[in-house]
Amino acid sequence: MALDLSGDRFRLKTLSSRDVLKALKRDARAGLVHAPRSLPPKYFYDEAGSRLFSEICQTRDYYLTRTELALLQRHADEIIVTARPQTCVELGAGASVKTEVLLSRLDSRSDSVAYVTIDVCEEVLVESAGRLLCTFPGLRIESLAAEYLAGIEALHGLEKPVLYVFLGSSIGNFTEQEAIELLGRVAEKMAPGDHFLLGLDRVKDRGVLERAYDDALGVTARFNLNVLKVLNARLGANFRLDGFSHLAVYDDAREQIEMYLVAGCDQEVALPAINETICLREGERILTEISRKYSRSSVQHLLSKSGLCEQAHYVPDNEYFSLVLAKPAD
Ligand code: AVJ
Repeated sequence: MALDLSGDRFRLKTLSSRDVLKALKRDARAGLVHAPRSLPPKYFYDEAGSRLFSEICQTRDYYLTRTELALLQRHADEIIVTARPQTCVELGAGASVKTEVLLSRLDSRSDSVAYVTIDVCEEVLVESAGRLLCTFPGLRIESLAAEYLAGIEALHGLEKPVLYVFLGSSIGNFTEQEAIELLGRVAEKMAPGDHFLLGLDRVKDRGVLERAYDDALGVTARFNLNVLKVLNARLGANFRLDGFSHLAVYDDAREQIEMYLVAGCDQEVALPAINETICLREGERILTEISRKYSRSSVQHLLSKSGLCEQAHYVPDNEYFSLVLAKPAD
């Protein structure tokens, strides 16, 4: 569908690609040149990676999306009645499939709700805006192709009350300290009457967790390996995709899934954009993602450290997932 980018119902702001490349070079230098090697998960989401992630969400093994969607469907009316938002701000909006449930309950109440979407993948933002503008004739959308923090800082003059939305357990990609900083930044932006809806995956049986991050169809493996294509394209690197395999392990003590790319043989990889060549030994790992899992008490801890206060906590019968509605602590 063609989308009028200058229309008064849709605006798109994109962070400069020069800044994005600069950050990637810095992260590659900090994470890849020396062991233990790692890379921030935000680089998964080029256009192909974002589509692979959507595909993961539809696999049988990745229970997170359908569990959270069912919770949202069950509690959307209550959430809307409590939050009464004039503006919804979504971090990591992606395809906005789950948020559509909230928007559909809103639309009948108000014809001038604003939906602000923040995501690192511009293509996906534009595509979902096109779909939502058709579905909801009263909706205005403002999209920011940016990282979470830069997107949050760019928010000004939002019509209150605001409902901030951060779903899918994406907060789990951050260490506890980073998560507290990010949520704390949002909490500082919040006024009395604003709300925060946060989705978090729960601690559970290791087998269930590891299958979710190593699905039988191999989609997660392709998603993980895709980050090497991103590095090849943006840094002129020469990673061989068949030189690595996907690994997902649950660390009990840290309560987190860790995803790695494991070198299948000794190999040398050139990273021309940062003037480096790295030597990987067979079996050596690159950590590409952590995905933290929460309990009732660690959710409480995270919220209170971030200046937020739990107002409602929705959990399904199997306790696989938490959907939390919070407000600023006073
Ligand atoms: C988008 C960060 C929530 O950690 O579950 C899915 C990403 N990685 N399968 C997650 C992901 C592998 C996902 N988040």
